[in-house]
Amino acid sequence: MIYLNNKLVPRDSARISVFDHGFLYGDGIYETLRAYDGVVFMFDEHIDRLFRSASMIELGVPKSPDEIKKAVYKTIEANRLKEAVIRITISRGAGPIGLDPALCPEPTFVIFASQFREYPVRFYRKGVNITIAGIRRNYSRALDPRIKSLNFLNNVLAKIEAKKKGAYEAVMLNHRGYLAEGTISNIFFIRDKVLYTPSPKVGILDGITRGIILDAARELQIKIREGRFRPEDVYGSQEVFISNTTMEVMPVAGIVKVMTFPAPGDFTRLLHKAYKKRVAEYIERER
Ligand code: PDD
Repeated sequence: MIYLNNKLVPRDSARISVFDHGFLYGDGIYETLRAYDGVVFMFDEHIDRLFRSASMIELGVPKSPDEIKKAVYKTIEANRLKEAVIRITISRGAGPIGLDPALCPEPTFVIFASQFREYPVRFYRKGVNITIAGIRRNYSRALDPRIKSLNFLNNVLAKIEAKKKGAYEAVMLNHRGYLAEGTISNIFFIRDKVLYTPSPKVGILDGITRGIILDAARELQIKIREGRFRPEDVYGSQEVFISNTTMEVMPVAGIVKVMTFPAPGDFTRLLHKAYKKRVAEYIERER
């Protein structure tokens, strides 16, 4: 079942207009969430970011945070899910051709939830390969990567590049050549026992998983440096991992045709364990 606008509808009848500006112009936003044992993890943080994205494109969210939360749980329950991936999508809605948001009186609001499929175990045991993409991350004064928008072509192009190079994820640099983020993930690396990750100032999505990892690292008294880094800084590191809501902490085994890392490294393992502990505590608290 799919939650479409105000009700649950069977998957096959969940249809939207060909005039939807989400389809015509990529005019809209989304969030991806994960539920563990029926509990949506970091729900408030995802809802806050959804509202932030909406406000950054001047899109009025047609529901309150509480209404959205209820609708998400309704969708999870209707699909009898415990371990789930949830996507909330809001587009500008249907309207005549033209860029003016005022052409679309009603946003389109969609939630779908599906069974979470575990990543292959070897991804965590051996790590995945990445590449540093030629495609640069959107310049934040052109399209701010903090907006989790439906305009995902920048990332799609980098993903195409990754696939051609035989890499699982492509990490993009910003317009000035500083390390930014993956197509759907944030990047971290360890150098001489210090945890490095690009600063939000570089122009990235400030991932919710990223925030938890930094928090856990602080608690573990691991030194952190958020800043502007070059690909060479990664080449000189001992461990690399990527993160997002569904992968959590994913070790990186190498940069295709450049180098390999022993994966998972000790810090990667430690931080993933700390992340999982936080998930367990959250689930316990929210149940
Ligand atoms: N993507 N950077 C980008 C460009 C992303 O698309 C994502 C998440 C992240 C990590 O954010 P978080 O830790 O909050 O999931 C970073 C989701 C998973 C997606 O596109 O479905």
